Order: sequence, then structure tokens, then C-alpha cells
Amino acid sequence: MSAMILDGKALAQKITDELSHIVADYKERGFSPKLATVLVGEDPASRVYVNLKKKDSEKIGIDYEEFYYKDISEEDLLLLIDDLNERNDIHGILVQLPLPRHIDSNKILERIDPLKDVDGFNPLNVGRILLNISDLFPCTPKGIVKILDEYKIPIEGSDITIINRSNIIGKPLAAMLINRGGTVTVVHSKTKNPKEKIKNADIVIIGVGKINFLTGDMVKEGAVVVDVGITRDLNGIRGDVKYDEVSKKTSYITPVPGGVGPMTRAMLLENLIICFSKQNDCAK
Ligand code: GUN
Repeated sequence: MSAMILDGKALAQKITDELSHIVADYKERGFSPKLATVLVGEDPASRVYVNLKKKDSEKIGIDYEEFYYKDISEEDLLLLIDDLNERNDIHGILVQLPLPRHIDSNKILERIDPLKDVDGFNPLNVGRILLNISDLFPCTPKGIVKILDEYKIPIEGSDITIINRSNIIGKPLAAMLINRGGTVTVVHSKTKNPKEKIKNADIVIIGVGKINFLTGDMVKEGAVVVDVGITRDLNGIRGDVKYDEVSKKTSYITPVPGGVGPMTRAMLLENLIICFSKQNDCAK
């Protein structure tokens, strides 16, 4: 079997094209959706991600303001969030993670107005996902579910193994897939017999940040594989999947680059528009 490619790049383009028309319509009517990003510290990868968010926003006409601090106290960062929560011209707030160690990120994320929480990381929004009453989902899990839906890959009744237990990816994704009728196993460093759980899965979603971690012998014939890994090496951006081997066994697979990454970026723009429309009657 040779895998069909799950083309996240093409789907992301289609979604951002649609969003750009929505933004143009708002602007014609005098409304300007605006994203604020907050970056603290000097992590080069975080700088790259924040720059991409600026570029993506501006490309489709979303206004953008960046708040950058080489260093800031937790107290002052909380005050900045309060200020951004109050500002009527800002509709989405994204605090780039990880934050420096002296800042409690949970405290910061909890302070973001749930209506402006474009990342979907505020505990209220996380709880809403668990209860299946949410209309706002973290970008990477949301992008993954959209790719599966686009290619009509069934979630209901499928055995799905997620190799990631982070607050950003694995945990919300597990809840979203359970809500859709999937049977979800979350594999992590303390899991007994992880290989068995991966081999049993109809859908494997992996985000461990280790190049070539998932090899052909680890997956079931005909499985669907979604690669969330992003590691930079001399050849550029690499995923977690040993692509040549795994793609020969699977029915569908996401490439890296061009799979989940572009979808995550598109979902941020979609979330900003969702937040904007919740804050503005004009947009409903
Ligand atoms: N750091 C890594 N991924 C993310 C993300 O999706 N959102 C934010 N805010 N920070 C991140």
C-alpha cells in the first residue's frame, strides 16, 4: 500500500482564502479584527513562530500588534494582559509559550479573557472542550481534526493513539476525538507496551520532536498517520515519522513540512475571527 498524502498546505490555503474574504467584508463595513501577540525572552524558535503569526495575519488583512519583552515580571505581564483584555480594538490575545521559568504560564493563561483566548488555553475554554460545549479549540488539535474530516477519515468508532500528552496538543485533542466517538489512547514516556498501543491504532497522531521516531514496523497496515513533529536540522524542518518506510504501509499520511504546520497557522486566523464575531454583533 502507498499512502495518500493529507495535504495540509492546500487545505490551509483554501481556509485562509475564505477568511480573507470574511475580513474584507468586515473592513468594508468599518470593522477591523485585530490580534495581539505577547513574546517574552529570546528563544529563537518562538521568535520565528511569532513572526509567522504577524505575516499570516497581515496577509489576510487582520490588524496586528506585537508586545515584546526581553524580560518582564509576572506581575507586569498580568497587568499587560489586563490592559489587552480591556482594549476594545484587540479581539485576540496570544501569549507565546514557553514563558521564562520565573513566570507561571497557567496564571497568565487564566488571566486572558476567555472571549479573546485565540489559543483556547484558558481553563474555562479547556473545560468547555471536555464538556463538549465549546466553539473554540486550540489550533493544532483543531487543524488535525479538520484534515481528518476533509479526507473523510472516520473518527467515530476508530482506535486512535496519540503520542503526546501536552496541554497544547495531546490532552485537548484526546477530548475532541472522544467527543466525536473515537476510542482514544494517549501514549507517553511512562506507558507500558507503547508499541502495542501504536500498532493497534487505526489512526496514529504523533508529536514527540524526535526525527524518524515512528518507523514502518510500528504501524498497522492501512493506518492513518498524522505527524505533528517539528524539528529543524540541516535539511530543514523534519517530522517524527520515518516517512519513506511508514508511507509504504499507511493509507493516509501528513507530510512535514506541508501537513499539520500550515493548518495550525490557519486555525489561529480562524480562531481570531471566531473571537472577533463573539465580541461584535455586527459580525454575527
Ligand atoms: N508554543 C508552541 N505552540 C504554541 C501554540 O500553539 N500557542 C502558543 N501560544 N505558544 C506555543
